[in-house]
Amino acid sequence: MANIIIIGTQWGDEGKGKVVDLLAEHADCVVRFQGGNNAGHTMVVDGKQIISHIIPSGILQGKTCIIGNGVVVDPLVLAEEIDYIRSMGIEINEDKLKISDKAHLIMPYHTKIDLAREESKGENKIGTTGRGIGPCYEDKAARRGIRFIDLLDPQEFEEKVKKALEEKNRYLEAFFSADTLDAESIINQYRELADKLAPYVTDTSVFLNQALKNNQQLLFEGAQGTHLDIEHGTYPFVTSSNTVAGNACCGSGVGPQAITGVIGIVKAYTTRVGRGPFPTELLDDIGDAIQEKGAEFGATTGRRRRCGWLDMVVLNNSARLNGLTGLAITKLDVLGGLDSLEICTGYELDGNTIQYFPSSLKKLEACRPVYETLPGWEEDISVVRAFDDLPQNAKNYLKRIEELSEIPIKIVSVGPGREETIVLENDFV
Ligand code: GDP
Ligand code: IMO
Ligand code: MG
Repeated sequence: MANIIIIGTQWGDEGKGKVVDLLAEHADCVVRFQGGNNAGHTMVVDGKQIISHIIPSGILQGKTCIIGNGVVVDPLVLAEEIDYIRSMGIEINEDKLKISDKAHLIMPYHTKIDLAREESKGENKIGTTGRGIGPCYEDKAARRGIRFIDLLDPQEFEEKVKKALEEKNRYLEAFFSADTLDAESIINQYRELADKLAPYVTDTSVFLNQALKNNQQLLFEGAQGTHLDIEHGTYPFVTSSNTVAGNACCGSGVGPQAITGVIGIVKAYTTRVGRGPFPTELLDDIGDAIQEKGAEFGATTGRRRRCGWLDMVVLNNSARLNGLTGLAITKLDVLGGLDSLEICTGYELDGNTIQYFPSSLKKLEACRPVYETLPGWEEDISVVRAFDDLPQNAKNYLKRIEELSEIPIKIVSVGPGREETIVLENDFV
């Protein structure tokens, strides 16, 4: 039996969707446990690209997909995504999709506040996805959030929306000179969504624990990345949830003893969308070349992703924070054609070389990467399906990552397609 957590080790967009879709073949349930539709997870099957923002990436494999209690859900986006996935010829019914009754709802005022705040910050903005994620998690922590269980109780829902708007409208008006929101129209819109989504809402913790009793295998799908974690990331340039593996249990209502492995998804280089420190960022032709070849545009907002070399300080930080038991290296094909490759093995700070990730943003910004240079390869590796068939320099690059992280590589991805993958070890079989 295996129950595996997949998490991003960098700043998101490592290729989690692709790896989850691949590994879901042998899982029974695929579980999102944090974040919301700030995520954009891309799957490419038979040449067809599908991007999911809120429905777990196991849906293409026909698995039971769970939106756990730790997720924040915009019900409008979810309803639209159900229609979109169906339009791709994929079945969604109450057996295939389950939403936690404890998951918090992203309300129209969350999105509005997120956007208004970012705009008012000007140069100092975080560069959020504008999906209302932060304001929704704020209300959850402040114990005034609205959950799916409330949505299913019309009277309770109405009272909660009216109460929330008393405060939100005053805030929107006074702070941002923004238009206020009308309670009735929100209540009517959400009532329709409640009718549509009610069949999927259940206690997903009870469901998952029963699945475990029945010897089913669970795959937990992290969103964002370790360095966007609200506590362990580059605060305040982070998202508003815990993105690390430990939260898979909390965000789904499953005990830690069930977990058998944690696979960290590692892009063969580094990218970041939005603002915040990024020690190995390349602001030169090589950065542009990687951005172009890797088609590095955000799957949610379409923003150009910042690109840089692989950073082992970042990866080793993730290894520690998540207890990684294996790595999946993605987008190795994108590095083909470069004369040489750099791997950051440490940072220079105040005349010393350090191997840790400083907690102080000021210190992190002062860090200069220390690089080790490896020779590149010319060949197109997207057709390779066995490790032994990779060019020697590509093998050396991978071996060096294993040496520096002391974690075995289990999967190497050489293209966006499900089949464009070298599987060295599958934890599920
Ligand atoms: P996620 O958020 O971690 O699921 O990643 P995204 O879907 O946001 O971004 C990853 C992008 O890289 C998507 O466009 C994928 O289709 C693509 N991708 C994933 N793996 C590979 C790979 O090995 N090679 C190439 N060239 N593209 C890949
Ligand atoms: P996936 O799951 C990359 C970034 C935003 C911003 C910061 C805060 O596709 O890897 P938020 O809207 O969450 O309040 O924005 O976090 N961010 C992501 N970056 N991939 C993601 O998800 C992201 N989700 C949020 O760009 O810098
Ligand atoms: Mg993404």
